[in-house]
Amino acid sequence: MPQDTLTITDNRTKQTYTVPIENGTIRAMDLRQIKTGPDDFGLMTYDPAFMNTASCRSSITFIDGERGILRYRGYPIEVLAEHCTFSEVAYLLLFGDLPTEHELKTWVGEITQHTMLHESTKKFMEGFRYNAHPMGMLVSTVAALSTIYPEAKEIHDPANRLLQIKRLIAKMPSIAAMTYRHSLGFPYVYPDNDLSYPENFMNMLWKKVEPKYVANPVIAHALDILFILHGDHEQNCSTNTMRSVGSAHTDPYLTTAAAAAALAGPLHGGANEEVLSMLDEIGSKENVPAYVKKIKEGHGKLMGFGHRVYKNYDPRAKIIKWAAERVFEVTGRNPQLDIALELERIALEDEYFVKRKLYPNVDFYSGIIYQAMGFEPEMFTVLFAIPRTAGWLAQWQEMLTDSEQKIARPRQVWTGPEVRQFVPLAKRGPVTAATR
Ligand code: CMC
Repeated sequence: MPQDTLTITDNRTKQTYTVPIENGTIRAMDLRQIKTGPDDFGLMTYDPAFMNTASCRSSITFIDGERGILRYRGYPIEVLAEHCTFSEVAYLLLFGDLPTEHELKTWVGEITQHTMLHESTKKFMEGFRYNAHPMGMLVSTVAALSTIYPEAKEIHDPANRLLQIKRLIAKMPSIAAMTYRHSLGFPYVYPDNDLSYPENFMNMLWKKVEPKYVANPVIAHALDILFILHGDHEQNCSTNTMRSVGSAHTDPYLTTAAAAAALAGPLHGGANEEVLSMLDEIGSKENVPAYVKKIKEGHGKLMGFGHRVYKNYDPRAKIIKWAAERVFEVTGRNPQLDIALELERIALEDEYFVKRKLYPNVDFYSGIIYQAMGFEPEMFTVLFAIPRTAGWLAQWQEMLTDSEQKIARPRQVWTGPEVRQFVPLAKRGPVTAATR
């Protein structure tokens, strides 16, 4: 018997099956042969929320949740955050290797070429109410780009795919800045292609009447680090959405809009906004113990804590804490930081959180930095979506070029009734639990 196999005995039939083990997995389709008889569909796995199912092979992002490790294409996140720009990291995610100096120059030049938005984008934007949530505006506007670039549907043409990838990475900050200025009622600012990726974003956010926007280098660097940390994160909810929607061969604008919609949820990228609401609700350091007690009694969750994969610490949270200190040197200390630090201290000593391996995640401190930079909490998830676009597109491309991938289509376990007798409308009585 080969060593890398699993032998299963079906106690219903006493039959034994041997299936191969590859990369620590068995193929779910190998279970289909396990049947009680010719009419039996065959054995399936039941895995709500994909707790133990690998949906793809990937060589983009590696996470070891137990040891708090995050690597993009083999490079530790700490090293990338210290030595690279986001533009280099986006290249790495998409092409698999860090660029040479020449490749980086070309890449940055190409991205810069695509930062402008079609003028009609302003009209979509004007259609939103003054208080529209920026994530709603971002998702809708990214989807609307599909109408401007109809050729994007040629997803099997590598050159065409690459063009749309460059457009999306380039235009995301422009759209994000528009949502921000729309909320404030300020005129939109055109990109300035002399500036780096984060500086240009800052220009589109904060330029007023000065002829040339000059970005604060500390803030620009912190923003770039935040972008690197948020670049990709393996098969999380929005990436899974990107792959799932993309598997239907939907164009990349609609697919990215779908991924961004998943990101908007408070259990995912929307958590950073929720962290700030939570800190506001707590109000002061003294109220932290009572708040933690309430959470332990089952009243809500500590936002920015816990992770499906990290059960030790989130390595991104450590780097963000470091970046926060640099930002506060420029902006002044965010008073919410003291509440957050106290919350972290108490939670990390508390049996409830220790037992469940709940640690601060990336969203716990990112919001505090964003707030110090002057963003309203509603903008936080938009700031997350900008860099994650590079990761989504890398994963989308990997999915499209993987010969094993097909349209994503999970199975279900049917829990409804057997065939029912139809009753005409006039003869239907109320359906009660007893008659159901
Ligand atoms: N506060 C209090 N209790 C928690 C928390 C929390 N933040 N997170 C999990 N738990 C408890 C949960 O109630 C459960 O307890 P019990 O075993 O008694 O039922 C246990 O810990 C296991 O939790 P789970 O819900 O099974 O874990 P999950 O892997 O399904 O959920 C999570 C992961 C991130 C959705 C969850 O921890 C959470 O809701 N955290 C708060 C929201 C948040 O910060 N999200 C950002 C995630 S990181 C960035 C991103 O993905 O965008």
